[in-house]
Amino acid sequence: MSARIIALTNQKGGCGKTTTAVNLSAALASMGQRVLLLDMDPQGNASIHLGIGIYDLTASMYDVLVDQDKMIRDVIHKTPVENLNIVPSNIELSGAELELVNVIGRESALKDSMDGVENEYDFIFIDCPPSLGLLTLNALTTSTEVMVPVQTEYFALEGMKKLLKSVEVVKRRLNHSLEVTGLIPTMYDVRTNLSDAIIGKMIEHFGDKVFKTKIRKNIRLAEAPSFGIPIEVYSPNSHGAHDYHHLAKEVLHHG
Ligand SMILES: Nc1ncnc2c1ncn2[C@@H]1O[C@H](COP(=O)(O)OP(=O)(O)O)[C@@H](O)[C@H]1O
Ligand SMILES: [Mg+2]
Repeated sequence: MSARIIALTNQKGGCGKTTTAVNLSAALASMGQRVLLLDMDPQGNASIHLGIGIYDLTASMYDVLVDQDKMIRDVIHKTPVENLNIVPSNIELSGAELELVNVIGRESALKDSMDGVENEYDFIFIDCPPSLGLLTLNALTTSTEVMVPVQTEYFALEGMKKLLKSVEVVKRRLNHSLEVTGLIPTMYDVRTNLSDAIIGKMIEHFGDKVFKTKIRKNIRLAEAPSFGIPIEVYSPNSHGAHDYHHLAKEVLHHG
């Protein structure tokens, strides 16, 4: 069985892509799923969150994209979580967009580097940068699914339309099997009506594509990255750990 390859994307920054990529991956791994996380953001936040020293990498996602002989399996690192591996990135990755501009097939550089690695995992998550540029395009070309973390403090329907349009174009031209499988409500604030109003709007527009699990606002989730460990290790009894575990179960059942 080939992995479900899931791009976590939203061109808006700070909506919980990386937090979800790391903690959902870790939750699934702790349930016994074999998980690989691909860090496609030059900021390397997912890599840092999983304890990778991103400033002294001998090879990273940059090499996977730019060097045709470098495959994903050559750049896999272990993480503090059993069953969870990562292909890290750092600021070098920001150069890849420019270097690939004149390369034929530039949008499938990542896909071409998979080389069967999808048969060795149950899930491959891709943490995308906050833009719809070439790095995100590579992620969408490689994925079987798209999940969109949506900050429930602010709902930009225009932004969603633009994102879905990009997904449609990729689906039509490059990757027929791509599907948007879910919107993930993040930073849910139980004390305000705003969060519920926004989830209401999401459901109005996207129906049952909106995950039932809401990721609550939880300070522990913001603290965990600087310790280089996911929430379930940093604070196993927190709301954050609970919510991502719950989301992991929902993702498994929507398989
Ligand atoms: N549920 C949450 N509760 C509290 N803080 C959160 C939550 N989710 C994310 N954060 C924090 O918000 C910031 C942005 O989240 P992040 O996952 O990095 O977003 P993105 O990858 O979309 O830019 C980070 O500092 C992160 O620790
Ligand atoms: Mg991020």
